[in-house]
Amino acid sequence: MKIELPFVMAFLISLTHRCNLTCSMCTQYGEGFKEFAKDELSADEWDNFFQSIMNISPKPQIILMGGEPLLYREFSEIIQRLKKYDFNILLVTNGTLLKKYLPELDDLNLNITLSLDGNECTHDKIRNKKGVYASVIQSIEQIQAMNFPKLSVSVNTVILPENIDELYEFADNISKYKIDGITFQHMQFTTELIDKISQKEWSSRMGINFCSCFHPLKPFNVTDEYLKKVKKFMSDIVQKCSFPVAFFPCFEEDEADCYYKEERLEKLRGGRICTEPWMSPSISPNGDVSNCINNVIGNIKDEDFWTIWSSEKADKLRQCLLKNGSFSVCKKCCNFYKGNFIYAPGCKIRLGKEEYDMENELNFIYSYRNVAFFEDNNVLYPHSFTSKREFDEYSANKKLMYLTNKI
Ligand SMILES: C[S@@+](CC[C@H](N)C(=O)[O-])C[C@H]1O[C@@H](n2cnc3c(N)ncnc32)[C@H](O)[C@@H]1O
Ligand code: SF4
Ligand code: SF4
Repeated sequence: MKIELPFVMAFLISLTHRCNLTCSMCTQYGEGFKEFAKDELSADEWDNFFQSIMNISPKPQIILMGGEPLLYREFSEIIQRLKKYDFNILLVTNGTLLKKYLPELDDLNLNITLSLDGNECTHDKIRNKKGVYASVIQSIEQIQAMNFPKLSVSVNTVILPENIDELYEFADNISKYKIDGITFQHMQFTTELIDKISQKEWSSRMGINFCSCFHPLKPFNVTDEYLKKVKKFMSDIVQKCSFPVAFFPCFEEDEADCYYKEERLEKLRGGRICTEPWMSPSISPNGDVSNCINNVIGNIKDEDFWTIWSSEKADKLRQCLLKNGSFSVCKKCCNFYKGNFIYAPGCKIRLGKEEYDMENELNFIYSYRNVAFFEDNNVLYPHSFTSKREFDEYSANKKLMYLTNKI
């Protein structure tokens, strides 16, 4: 059966939560991750799941992550299985174990994102192990030598107090290698205060505990001086770099202040809510499916993926977000900034020069291509638009459920 969707679904697959490094900024040591290390699905179990999503159109994105995904005991088998399907795959890795697998990675639509957090000394210090930088550089060189037509390579760099002073030089060094681009990733972290607020919000709105998972291994302190440097780097580097540079999240200057200082969080992206619960399932090593970092909705060993994705438990969070808007912790969660947004009722929306008051109706804004969902006899029908006028005409007598953008 073909499953036609009006957006690209992105599946975040954690093959393992185990890791061979202990990087200072990593949050995988939070309480939420401990229990996942116990049992991991087999390659056959993953393959059953791949079969259930193989007929989605447009083709989905599969993000292989961890922990360190290459530590997964049947990684070669996973690669062989994935070759049967036409997925777009993104593999995020620390690069230490990549050499062995590279020859197997032909014939996959694959982007390998290597983590590199600075020049050699700094990177190895952050990653807590000597030689990690060298293995990443070697991997980049090997990937380029392989010349597989469907394989690309990029770099992800977490901005940290340890590397902020050398990031210009680092970008310059790395520009020697023909990589597809570099993403500067803002540190994901929360403070006790957000955790406390979140605990209250999640228990009153959803009736579940908030499981804080944004605490780095090494405490992360934001000083005014550091924040100033980060903002300067954000504004300078794009002009200085000769190859594509992206920031994630892509903050405006005053947004960076709110994010890092955890002040006026409600201002960040107004009444928008995250689309993860609709578009981006996460699957843990043991098969648990979540539609948000804090909402496990089922397990693919027990039930078919689509039954889980359309379950009451999955929908409860969607309805909760539509009714109450974002949780405070959303503004500190990178998923919130992925670029697709649903607007909660009551917020104002700007389309070109016009501002619309959404009141009780759910609506969407479109910067690129517009898709709306309409309900009829309990079935959701997607429809896409290229203009506000087209949207108004089509939607005149229909019950609008929600809209999305930037697909
Ligand atoms: C959690 S790691 C998993 C994949 C693999 N182990 C690696 O290091 O590339 C995924 C990415 O998140 C980055 N990362 C780690 N801790 C982070 C944090 N607190 N905030 C933002 N990104 C972080 C890593 O550098 C890496 O690029
Ligand atoms: S960032 Fe990646 S390599 Fe480092 S500890 Fe976390 S999961 Fe492991
Ligand atoms: S942004 Fe909010 S709703 Fe989305 S995954 Fe993060 S915590 Fe969940």
